[in-house]
Amino acid sequence: MKITPLAIAITALTGSLNAWAAKPAAEPISPIQPAVITNPKLVELGKKLYFDPRLSKSGAISCNSCHNLSMGGTDNLKTSIGHNWQKGPINSPTVLNSRFALAQFWDGRAKDLKEQAGGPIANPGEMAFTHELAVDVLKSIPQYVAEFKSAFGTDAVDIGRITTAIAAFEETLVTPDSRFDKWLKGDKKALNEKELAGYALFKNSGCVACHNGPAVGGTSFQKMGVVEPYKATSPAEGRSAVTGKDADRFNFKVPTLRNVELTYPYFHDGEAATLEKAVDVMGRLQLGKQFTTDENASIVAFLKTLTGKQPNFKLPTLPPSSNATPQPKPFE
Ligand code: HEC
Ligand code: HEC
Repeated sequence: MKITPLAIAITALTGSLNAWAAKPAAEPISPIQPAVITNPKLVELGKKLYFDPRLSKSGAISCNSCHNLSMGGTDNLKTSIGHNWQKGPINSPTVLNSRFALAQFWDGRAKDLKEQAGGPIANPGEMAFTHELAVDVLKSIPQYVAEFKSAFGTDAVDIGRITTAIAAFEETLVTPDSRFDKWLKGDKKALNEKELAGYALFKNSGCVACHNGPAVGGTSFQKMGVVEPYKATSPAEGRSAVTGKDADRFNFKVPTLRNVELTYPYFHDGEAATLEKAVDVMGRLQLGKQFTTDENASIVAFLKTLTGKQPNFKLPTLPPSSNATPQPKPFE
């Protein structure tokens, strides 16, 4: 046979079709890969900053106050408590697996973790500090100055480096090895019948149209209340606050469902106290579907298989303040 470009193309096509036919149908959710740490000094510095309440005006609030790594990276409150016991406007999302999201915040107003990390420090309703004061505090602590130097190679301590370090730590906050991931990787005994029935319902009813990818969410902005409107108790308007477009009103970043068993209460206003309630609302408002009690229970059982290995490390010991460190102002 004369080998023509067409023959080559056909052979290549048949080859890939055969390979495709041999593979099981692709799943809409992929396993979480463990973190690969390339700059351990930077990650260690970021971990300290994440736990350091001296980045707040009060000296009492750290990132971990609202994204508690002992509680699925959340505060398990409807909305967070900020500086001076202020009532937060919106539910605190988990920081776990946030690296997989297309953008940060419910409305996606920060493009990545580094851009996000500067927000809460200077937010008067959260840590109520300023970037300048945060830099002054860290510069007054000799061990921090030395750690910035060893992580970055040169002397400067500035807000860009602070947020780079915090983001590098957050990149490591992934939760591999959930039972669901074990099942995805071929351990067919990792899930029981009820959980598998829940996963089938999750796929067949259309939840995966929005909750997909490694984080089972975070891949798009979607309207809350597609079939029926959602009556939120929070003033948040969603994506339209960023784009200014009316069509984006009440579009929110689809939240990750990884570790959802730990990240209650649910929705941007924190109004769904239980997973059963959240699944019921999603079925009715997003899909026009009323699940039976059994169907709801099996979806909830499936969702609980998404709990992965939680970050596990020694709590960092924070370097002590020096005599020159600006004093915290907890009651102002
Ligand atoms: C007072 C509570 C509070 C503190 C302190 C706080 N956060 Fe948050 N965080 C929130 C809330 C509430 C949101 C959601 C805000 C929104 O979407 O408008 C959020 C959002 C985030 C997100 C986006 C997650 C997502 O899925 O969109 C990340 C990442 C994050 N915070 C990291 C941090 C870091 C890092 C710090 C410390 C520098 C910090 N937070 C301090 C309450 C807090
Ligand atoms: C049209 C897109 C879409 C579909 C379909 C959809 N969801 Fe959602 N889901 C969202 C959005 C957007 C939110 C956040 C809404 C909010 O907080 O206001 C959300 C939130 C959730 C939450 C709460 C997570 C949290 O941390 O607050 C759960 C649980 C959930 N969905 C499960 C499901 C299930 C189960 C299905 C199928 C029955 C489903 N979703 C179908 C878009 C969707």
